[in-house]
Amino acid sequence: MMTKTAPEMSLDRHKIDLLYRRDEIEVRVQELGEQISKDYAGTTPVLVGALKGCFVFMADLARAISIPLELEFISAASYRNGAEQDDTIAVGPAPTLSIKGRDVLFVEGVVDSGRTAEAVIQRLKIDEPNSIEIVTLLHKTHSSKLSFPLKYVGYEIEDLFVVGYGLDYSQLYRNLNFIGHVREFEK
Ligand code: IMP
Ligand code: MG
Repeated sequence: MMTKTAPEMSLDRHKIDLLYRRDEIEVRVQELGEQISKDYAGTTPVLVGALKGCFVFMADLARAISIPLELEFISAASYRNGAEQDDTIAVGPAPTLSIKGRDVLFVEGVVDSGRTAEAVIQRLKIDEPNSIEIVTLLHKTHSSKLSFPLKYVGYEIEDLFVVGYGLDYSQLYRNLNFIGHVREFEK
Protein backbone atom coordinates (compact mmCIF):
# COMPACT_ATOMS: atom_id res chain seq x y z
CA MET A 1 0.00 0.00 0.00
CA MET A 2 1.15 3.52 -0.71
CA THR A 3 1.49 5.29 2.59
CA LYS A 4 0.58 8.91 2.52
CA THR A 5 1.34 11.66 4.93
CA ALA A 6 -2.15 12.44 5.95
CA PRO A 7 -4.05 13.90 8.81
CA GLU A 8 -5.07 11.10 11.11
CA MET A 9 -8.70 11.19 11.84
CA SER A 10 -10.59 9.85 14.76
CA LEU A 11 -14.23 9.78 13.91
CA ASP A 12 -16.67 8.41 16.42
CA ARG A 13 -15.27 5.06 17.59
CA HIS A 14 -13.03 4.47 14.62
CA LYS A 15 -9.61 5.58 13.50
CA ILE A 16 -9.64 6.44 9.83
CA ASP A 17 -6.57 7.14 7.71
CA LEU A 18 -6.73 9.02 4.45
CA LEU A 19 -6.31 6.87 1.35
CA TYR A 20 -7.44 9.15 -1.50
CA ARG A 21 -8.12 12.86 -1.23
CA ARG A 22 -11.18 14.46 -2.71
CA ASP A 23 -9.18 16.32 -5.39
CA GLU A 24 -7.35 13.20 -6.58
CA ILE A 25 -10.60 11.22 -6.74
CA GLU A 26 -12.08 14.02 -8.84
CA VAL A 27 -9.24 13.74 -11.37
CA ARG A 28 -9.54 9.94 -11.55
CA VAL A 29 -13.33 10.03 -11.94
CA GLN A 30 -12.94 12.61 -14.72
CA GLU A 31 -10.54 10.24 -16.52
CA LEU A 32 -13.01 7.36 -16.20
CA GLY A 33 -15.81 9.58 -17.51
CA GLU A 34 -13.76 10.66 -20.51
CA GLN A 35 -12.83 7.06 -21.33
CA ILE A 36 -16.46 5.95 -21.09
CA SER A 37 -17.57 8.91 -23.25
CA LYS A 38 -15.11 7.78 -25.95
CA ASP A 39 -15.94 4.07 -25.70
CA TYR A 40 -19.70 4.64 -25.80
CA ALA A 41 -19.76 7.51 -28.31
CA GLY A 42 -22.83 7.22 -30.52
CA THR A 43 -24.79 5.25 -27.92
CA THR A 44 -26.92 6.22 -24.93
CA PRO A 45 -25.74 3.91 -22.14
CA VAL A 46 -27.73 3.15 -19.01
CA LEU A 47 -25.72 3.54 -15.82
CA VAL A 48 -27.07 1.14 -13.21
CA GLY A 49 -25.73 1.95 -9.76
CA ALA A 50 -25.58 -0.44 -6.81
CA LEU A 51 -27.13 1.29 -3.80
CA LYS A 52 -26.20 2.57 -1.39
CA GLY A 53 -22.43 2.62 -1.88
CA CYS A 54 -22.47 3.99 -5.41
CA PHE A 55 -24.35 7.18 -4.66
CA VAL A 56 -21.48 9.67 -4.53
CA PHE A 57 -19.38 8.00 -7.23
CA MET A 58 -22.41 7.71 -9.50
CA ALA A 59 -23.22 11.42 -9.14
CA ASP A 60 -19.67 12.45 -10.01
CA LEU A 61 -19.16 9.85 -12.74
CA ALA A 62 -22.43 10.75 -14.49
CA ARG A 63 -21.34 14.38 -14.64
CA ALA A 64 -17.89 13.39 -15.96
CA ILE A 65 -19.52 11.63 -18.93
CA SER A 66 -20.18 13.94 -21.85
CA ILE A 67 -22.49 11.75 -23.94
CA PRO A 68 -26.23 11.28 -23.30
CA LEU A 69 -27.02 8.63 -20.70
CA GLU A 70 -29.81 7.32 -18.53
CA LEU A 71 -29.64 6.39 -14.87
CA GLU A 72 -31.06 3.53 -12.87
CA PHE A 73 -30.40 2.09 -9.44
CA ILE A 74 -30.54 -1.38 -7.99
CA SER A 75 -30.07 -2.45 -4.42
CA ALA A 76 -27.67 -5.20 -3.49
CA ALA A 77 -27.03 -6.23 0.07
CA SER A 78 -25.05 -9.13 1.43
CA TYR A 79 -26.10 -10.84 4.61
CA ARG A 80 -23.54 -12.69 6.63
CA ASN A 81 -24.48 -16.19 7.70
CA GLY A 82 -21.48 -16.77 9.91
CA ALA A 83 -18.56 -17.69 7.71
CA GLU A 84 -17.66 -15.18 5.04
CA GLN A 85 -18.14 -17.66 2.21
CA ASP A 86 -21.75 -18.15 3.27
CA ASP A 87 -22.87 -14.58 2.58
CA THR A 88 -26.08 -14.46 0.61
CA ILE A 89 -26.66 -11.57 -1.75
CA ALA A 90 -30.12 -10.03 -1.95
CA VAL A 91 -30.66 -8.19 -5.22
CA GLY A 92 -33.66 -6.07 -6.00
CA PRO A 93 -36.11 -4.67 -6.68
CA ALA A 94 -35.73 -4.79 -10.43
CA PRO A 95 -34.98 -1.53 -12.25
CA THR A 96 -38.11 0.18 -13.57
CA LEU A 97 -36.24 1.49 -16.61
CA SER A 98 -36.13 -1.12 -19.36
CA ILE A 99 -32.57 -2.17 -20.17
CA LYS A 100 -33.56 -4.61 -22.91
CA GLY A 101 -31.24 -4.06 -25.89
CA ARG A 102 -29.39 -1.27 -24.05
CA ASP A 103 -25.70 -0.82 -23.28
CA VAL A 104 -25.48 -1.11 -19.51
CA LEU A 105 -22.71 0.09 -17.25
CA PHE A 106 -23.03 -1.40 -13.79
CA VAL A 107 -21.57 1.09 -11.28
CA GLU A 108 -20.14 -0.14 -7.95
CA GLY A 109 -18.26 1.66 -5.20
CA VAL A 110 -16.04 -1.29 -4.32
CA VAL A 111 -15.60 -4.81 -5.66
CA ASP A 112 -14.06 -7.20 -3.16
CA SER A 113 -14.86 -10.89 -3.72
CA GLY A 114 -16.99 -9.92 -6.72
CA ARG A 115 -19.95 -11.88 -5.43
CA THR A 116 -22.22 -8.83 -5.20
CA ALA A 117 -21.36 -7.65 -8.70
CA GLU A 118 -21.81 -11.17 -10.04
CA ALA A 119 -25.28 -11.47 -8.46
CA VAL A 120 -26.38 -8.12 -9.89
CA ILE A 121 -24.99 -8.92 -13.34
CA GLN A 122 -26.89 -12.23 -13.34
CA ARG A 123 -30.05 -10.35 -12.44
CA LEU A 124 -29.55 -7.65 -15.09
CA LYS A 125 -28.81 -10.21 -17.83
CA ILE A 126 -32.34 -11.58 -17.42
CA ASP A 127 -33.57 -8.30 -18.96
CA GLU A 128 -31.45 -8.93 -22.08
CA PRO A 129 -29.28 -5.82 -22.36
CA ASN A 130 -27.20 -5.47 -25.55
CA SER A 131 -24.03 -5.26 -23.46
CA ILE A 132 -23.04 -5.03 -19.83
CA GLU A 133 -19.77 -3.81 -18.33
CA ILE A 134 -18.65 -2.96 -14.82
CA VAL A 135 -17.34 0.37 -13.52
CA THR A 136 -15.98 0.30 -9.99
CA LEU A 137 -14.22 3.04 -8.11
CA LEU A 138 -12.23 0.53 -6.07
CA HIS A 139 -11.14 -3.05 -6.58
CA LYS A 140 -9.49 -5.11 -3.87
CA THR A 141 -6.85 -7.06 -5.72
CA HIS A 142 -6.25 -9.58 -2.93
CA SER A 143 -9.43 -11.37 -3.97
CA SER A 144 -9.24 -14.59 -5.87
CA LYS A 145 -9.63 -14.21 -9.59
CA LEU A 146 -12.98 -12.75 -10.61
CA SER A 147 -15.09 -14.76 -13.03
CA PHE A 148 -15.89 -11.60 -15.02
CA PRO A 149 -13.88 -8.62 -16.25
CA LEU A 150 -13.88 -5.20 -14.57
CA LYS A 151 -13.73 -2.85 -17.53
CA TYR A 152 -13.27 0.42 -15.63
CA VAL A 153 -11.47 0.58 -12.28
CA GLY A 154 -10.67 3.79 -10.42
CA TYR A 155 -8.11 2.35 -8.03
CA GLU A 156 -6.74 -1.10 -7.28
CA ILE A 157 -6.32 -1.39 -3.50
CA GLU A 158 -5.08 -3.86 -0.95
CA ASP A 159 -7.32 -5.77 1.41
CA LEU A 160 -8.30 -2.73 3.47
CA PHE A 161 -11.68 -1.81 4.83
CA VAL A 162 -12.47 1.52 3.22
CA VAL A 163 -15.10 4.16 3.94
CA GLY A 164 -16.20 7.51 2.59
CA TYR A 165 -17.26 8.84 -0.80
CA GLY A 166 -20.43 6.73 -0.42
CA LEU A 167 -18.92 3.69 1.28
CA ASP A 168 -19.91 2.79 4.81
CA TYR A 169 -18.91 0.98 7.93
CA SER A 170 -22.18 -0.01 9.65
CA GLN A 171 -23.93 2.73 7.65
CA LEU A 172 -21.55 5.42 8.90
CA TYR A 173 -19.03 7.59 7.02
CA ARG A 174 -20.74 7.58 3.62
CA ASN A 175 -20.59 11.38 3.70
CA LEU A 176 -16.81 11.70 4.07
CA ASN A 177 -15.54 13.57 1.03
CA PHE A 178 -12.39 11.43 0.85
CA ILE A 179 -11.73 7.70 0.85
CA GLY A 180 -10.33 6.48 4.12
CA HIS A 181 -9.09 3.24 5.58
CA VAL A 182 -10.61 2.08 8.87
CA ARG A 183 -7.49 1.28 10.86
CA GLU A 184 -9.07 0.65 14.22
CA PHE A 185 -12.53 -0.75 14.55
CA GLU A 186 -12.87 -0.22 18.28
CA LYS A 187 -11.40 2.34 20.57
P1 IMP B 1 -18.07 -8.28 -2.67
O1 IMP B 1 -19.42 -8.92 -2.89
O2 IMP B 1 -17.18 -9.15 -1.79
O3 IMP B 1 -17.37 -7.89 -3.94
O4 IMP B 1 -18.29 -7.00 -1.79
C1 IMP B 1 -18.86 -5.90 -2.35
C2 IMP B 1 -19.79 -5.21 -1.39
O5 IMP B 1 -19.38 -5.32 -0.03
C3 IMP B 1 -19.77 -3.77 -1.76
O6 IMP B 1 -20.85 -3.46 -2.57
C4 IMP B 1 -19.84 -3.09 -0.40
O7 IMP B 1 -21.19 -2.89 -0.06
C5 IMP B 1 -19.25 -4.07 0.57
N1 IMP B 1 -17.84 -3.82 0.84
C6 IMP B 1 -16.80 -4.62 0.53
N2 IMP B 1 -15.64 -4.10 0.96
C7 IMP B 1 -15.95 -2.93 1.55
C8 IMP B 1 -15.16 -1.92 2.19
O8 IMP B 1 -13.94 -1.97 2.30
N3 IMP B 1 -15.85 -0.85 2.68
C9 IMP B 1 -17.19 -0.72 2.59
N4 IMP B 1 -17.97 -1.65 2.00
C10 IMP B 1 -17.36 -2.75 1.49
MG1 MG C 1 -21.88 -1.69 3.32
